[in-house]
Amino acid sequence: MDDGITTAAYIVASILFILSLGGLSHQESARRGNLFGIAGMLIAVVATIWHQRVDNLAWVIVAMLLGGAVGVWKARRVAMTQMPELVALLHSFVGLAAVLVGGSTYLGSEGAYLGVEKVIHETEIYLGILIGAVTFTGSVTAFGKLQGSVSSRPLLLPGRHWLNLAGALACVWFGAEFLQADGVPEGLLPLAIMTLIAFLFGVHMVVAIGGADMPVVVSMLNSYSGWAAAATGFMLSNDLLIVTGALVGSSGAILSYIMCRAMNRRFVSVIMGGFGTSGSISGSTDVAGDVTAVTTEECGELLNQISSLVIVPGYGMAVAHAQHPVYEMTRKLRDRGVNVRFAIHPVAGRMPGHMNVLLAEARVPYDIVLEMDDIQDDLTDTDMVMVIGANDIVNPSALENPDGPIGGMPVIKAWNAREVIVLKRSMASGYAGVENPLFFKENTRMLFGDAKTSVDELIVHIA
Ligand code: TAP
Repeated sequence: MDDGITTAAYIVASILFILSLGGLSHQESARRGNLFGIAGMLIAVVATIWHQRVDNLAWVIVAMLLGGAVGVWKARRVAMTQMPELVALLHSFVGLAAVLVGGSTYLGSEGAYLGVEKVIHETEIYLGILIGAVTFTGSVTAFGKLQGSVSSRPLLLPGRHWLNLAGALACVWFGAEFLQADGVPEGLLPLAIMTLIAFLFGVHMVVAIGGADMPVVVSMLNSYSGWAAAATGFMLSNDLLIVTGALVGSSGAILSYIMCRAMNRRFVSVIMGGFGTSGSISGSTDVAGDVTAVTTEECGELLNQISSLVIVPGYGMAVAHAQHPVYEMTRKLRDRGVNVRFAIHPVAGRMPGHMNVLLAEARVPYDIVLEMDDIQDDLTDTDMVMVIGANDIVNPSALENPDGPIGGMPVIKAWNAREVIVLKRSMASGYAGVENPLFFKENTRMLFGDAKTSVDELIVHIA
């Protein structure tokens, strides 16, 4: 394939990627957005491997078949609730690829560049490996935190900001050494030391971030992986990789910013890895009082008397796979004239848009699924809020206890409704490990049990 055709294919692929991002920003167009992305990637891969610079096609095809087979196998098996771990793991691959490509480009391009060109080329390599190494270990640590093999509590080393600063200064110093080195053997040492520092920094940055901030970390690593890919594009002089990396990098950064706003966290604090995190991680509210439990029969009777219901779905609805019976219940209530709507918190579940995806899968109409801010004021005029497997996102202590782990996070004020029904299995706390005073409020009733089983039984009791 000659250069002109490759360039044209790259432009088409870039446009498809932009259309894909546009499509993914709305539920109605998300499927189309995915198709654009798949088409763009197919064109990009074909144009790249048929390019005349690729001289060992057999190896490329073997690697693609192997990687593709593992990808298909994993994608078919992964549960929706494990998606953030998978995404974190995939980001780590991008980071590792940037490190390996950087290393091999450095070793393979000795003597190919001189003067200013050499400085530019080696700067690209140095930055690519730096970003890739941070992304790699940061993503592996995030994977461990999300999976539970690394504690979700922030590990705050004494003098951690000084450690980070020392690491950053050392990277600058070794960068200067690297650029001044005369040839590969001399340049390898500063490059290897910087890579080690960057690996350690990635771990240190993410272990310092508490479980409650993990949603932001995952989207931030998504952004880092984009910049790592863009840096790889510079190393390989591949324009499409630069464009794609920049798209992923900037959209990930925008998503991180939006999520920070949703959780009332400072973007810079999260990016700097626990920067501004107070030393205390307890800050939990002392919760005491009586809990009122109801049976599905009693709850069914209450449902038969209401004219408005707001459902707040959370992680537990995903775990229980309750979305289909929840829609069945919604349909039955709407047939009786009840105004049923859904309130979606931006970080409900374990990944951005988690609840929207589940509700769309169950074919809940989009027009009754509302963002938290669009429904918050209506809750005072609502007969009942039904919290299905949610906890942190309806926890009043986020507002009452600003020093707690979820302090300052905007939450859905379920307690403002006339009645609140909470469906969960026990009194266990949510993801952030904070007790929830909502369960003890006078207008709250707890319906204990698996969310799917409870909703299945409720459907039977709706007249
Ligand atoms: P959580 O606070 O995690 O609470 C979920 C609740 O569901 C738990 O208290 C659990 O109580 C209940 N549950 C679990 N399995 C259930 C089942 N089978 N049936 C019924 N209930 C079940 O969820 P949330 O309110 O959606 O809040 C999300 C949290 O995750 C936030 O802290 C957020 O920061 C964090 N987070 C979000 C993301 C993104 S991007 N969305 C990513 C990572 C972390 P029982 O055990 O008593 O049943």
